[in-house]
Amino acid sequence: MGALLKITLVGVLLALLGERITHFCHRFLVFNEVVPVELPGCQLVKGIEAGSEDIDVLPNGLAFISTGLKFPNVKSFAPDDPGEIVLLDLEDGDLSPVPLRISEGFDVSSFNPHGLSTYIDEKDGTVYLFVVNHPQLQSIVEIFKFQEEERSLLHLKSVKHELLSSVNDIVAVGPESFYATIDFYFTNANMKFVEMYLGFPWTGVVYYSPGDVRQVATGLYNGNGIAISNDKKYIYAADFTHHTINVFKKNKDWSLTPVKVVDVNSILDNLSVDPVTGDIWTGAHPNLYKLFNYSPDDPPGSEVIRVQNIHSDNPIITRVYANNGSVIQGSSCASVYKGQLLVGTVFHRALHCPLK
Ligand SMILES: *[C@@H]1O[C@H](CO)[C@@H](O)[C@H](O)[C@H]1NC(C)=O
Ligand SMILES: *[C@@H]1O[C@H](CO)[C@@H](O)[C@H](O)[C@H]1NC(C)=O
Repeated sequence: MGALLKITLVGVLLALLGERITHFCHRFLVFNEVVPVELPGCQLVKGIEAGSEDIDVLPNGLAFISTGLKFPNVKSFAPDDPGEIVLLDLEDGDLSPVPLRISEGFDVSSFNPHGLSTYIDEKDGTVYLFVVNHPQLQSIVEIFKFQEEERSLLHLKSVKHELLSSVNDIVAVGPESFYATIDFYFTNANMKFVEMYLGFPWTGVVYYSPGDVRQVATGLYNGNGIAISNDKKYIYAADFTHHTINVFKKNKDWSLTPVKVVDVNSILDNLSVDPVTGDIWTGAHPNLYKLFNYSPDDPPGSEVIRVQNIHSDNPIITRVYANNGSVIQGSSCASVYKGQLLVGTVFHRALHCPLK
């Protein structure tokens, strides 16, 4: 009886382990190989060598790019240099990004920028830049005012809150308010690692404004990119290891109502919305195992996915570009501006492609 019980227990444990491993392989697309999709005329952006993790493009074609992210288990080509925000003018065919100077008093030496988002004040045209910052792996949302003439950022405030202990991305909805995705339930780096490999739907979306901070969505495995529809009625949140875009209706009191979940069958990272068509663009990871276990001989590839008509019954999902890492590695975002596509990466370079 004792032996039988032991055999049964071992069997149950093996079955559980097998189930978790299968689940893991699916979520990380461990065995996925990239089927290339090429776009003519692509070129790498000069001077970006250590990531272009997130990109936000202003209506006048100025693109803010966060570069130099340091993140646990992720490759860095400039591990000793602080991160920066660089500005790229998409109206200027030269494609030469310039680093933005940051006002005195802000600790640039520990700057570790991740997701970013802009907000334009309708009254006076002021551009606010919100940046997720991880100095010493903390999680802080920095709010800057963009000073276009001086090509600089004036630091206004640092937002910290217990509900914002593991922010991945943000979308600004006012000069001091934003929605943020939470990527991990745990804050400890080792526990994050365990959580990511096992996979639990314990993260979500938080709404922040001074005096009102609350969780407004739950049930995501790893909340990642977040964006707002052009009519400002919907919020789109990427669930990284669940391969979905989660669509929420934004209510007057800033709460969110789940509308639908669209499976794009890829590990999507940051999201952006085409300002003209409303299509959702995302940089995705064809194989997450390769992203977290970097090998120069077999690097992680890149994928750009476009989702059209997400609110219809049959959204159209197109793989617009895919590369095995020979050109660009670890794509994390894709933005469009007037027939141009800009692809950012977690730790590698940035790619510019004309769209026909
Ligand atoms: C952008 O991509 C990075 C890569 O992981 C992701 O961690 C981050 O959350 C994303 N941020 C945005 C703005 O989507
Ligand atoms: C990636 O693709 C290029 C050409 O498309 C090929 O030469 C190269 O061997 C591939 N690399 C890997 C690691 O598969």
